[in-house]
Amino acid sequence: MMPALAKYTNEQHQTPVNKTLFEKYKLGKLLGYGAFAKVYHGYDIESKRSVAIKSINKKKIISRGLTSHIKLEITAMRRLQHPNIVRLHEVLANQKKVYFVLEFAKGGELFSKLSKCRFSEELSRRYFQQLISAVGYCHSRGVFHRDLKPENLLLDDNWNLKITDFGLSAISYNNNNNSNNNKLLHTMCGTPAYVAPEILLKKGYDGAKVDIWSCGVILYVFNAGYLPFNDPNLIVMYRKISRGDFHFPKWTSPELKRLLSRLLDTNPITRITIDEIVNDPWFKIGYKDVEVGCDDMEMMKCGGDGLESLNAFDIISFSSGCNLSSLFDEDDGGEMFLSTVAPEVMMERVVEAVVGEGLMVVVKKKWCVKVDGGQGQCGNFTLTVVVKRLTVEIVVVEVEWRGGVRDVWKRRVWPRLSGLVYRLDGPVAGD
Ligand code: ADE
Repeated sequence: MMPALAKYTNEQHQTPVNKTLFEKYKLGKLLGYGAFAKVYHGYDIESKRSVAIKSINKKKIISRGLTSHIKLEITAMRRLQHPNIVRLHEVLANQKKVYFVLEFAKGGELFSKLSKCRFSEELSRRYFQQLISAVGYCHSRGVFHRDLKPENLLLDDNWNLKITDFGLSAISYNNNNNSNNNKLLHTMCGTPAYVAPEILLKKGYDGAKVDIWSCGVILYVFNAGYLPFNDPNLIVMYRKISRGDFHFPKWTSPELKRLLSRLLDTNPITRITIDEIVNDPWFKIGYKDVEVGCDDMEMMKCGGDGLESLNAFDIISFSSGCNLSSLFDEDDGGEMFLSTVAPEVMMERVVEAVVGEGLMVVVKKKWCVKVDGGQGQCGNFTLTVVVKRLTVEIVVVEVEWRGGVRDVWKRRVWPRLSGLVYRLDGPVAGD
């Protein structure tokens, strides 16, 4: 009995082969699809390199309030550079779609190999080690997958494992915060058979512990060839998961049984941690953690002055040629400007303009100013202005307004700055 997960078979999802994207990529055959995205094989026309192109329908995303999921997916994948994680090469967009250009995993789904047989303990260990290396790396960067299952595990041309699809991942924004409450995530997500019991209880959960549970289910499937918790009736399946009601196949070794019992511990507090997995006797055999190079993009992000630099992904999001801002700012909550004045000068001019208009600065950081209109004619509003570096000579000014303050920005503050800035989508005249 194999995990029943039919995929990629519906003919209506086929797209004409050989469509060209931005004169840069040729789209090939459909590799897979979900509710909001389709994944195609493609290749870079210039380098002839194979890629996977994940195409996401903007309308569906916006209408279902999933914009923040896409932002999270970009944020999560951008942070990750590990040999067992599918790399995000670039993000492109037109009016209807956002395209993620991904590393192509030539071996396809590990799941398709599994559906034919179970793995030996040696092979199970090898793939489990690669999985834990990648998951541990993600966790150490505050990224949790939350939808780990064999379908999200691909193989490269050397038969090494690659984790893909961070569409459901959540970023821990409170990495330095000791409060457990802040580390708990509250979204119901994941695939039933791989879902941890604490998610079913809907009381919030720790993203790291949830991933470790899913790794336990995956290891079980590698070794057994079938799911530990399975039933045609979903309620019965949930009951089995909540009680940790599973049995080992007769061929599982005592050492692996011990590890699986610790992974599939229904209590997230006593469940094994990544550090403990790495020191487990069954896991340790032949394990050498990969060396992960320093992440250039992260290194670039902050210079010594604390001024945030932008990278290629941010630049794409801003550029009018393939503007993502309609996806990201559908509520017209702000705008962006370019300027060639020094960032310090820009910040000074913003504060001058705000104070000159009799507005109150409530937060003033080196590269960010927050303004409150108080109870005056503007009512209760905030205006946030952030300065970031785009190139050595150019800064980006991001303006965000809340609570009906758009006009205050447009009619009062903006005219005082317009001589300094160049707007991305056209000339600067007051509008
Ligand atoms: N299916 C989904 N993502 C893929 C990728 N990056 N490579 C190959 N097949 C895939």
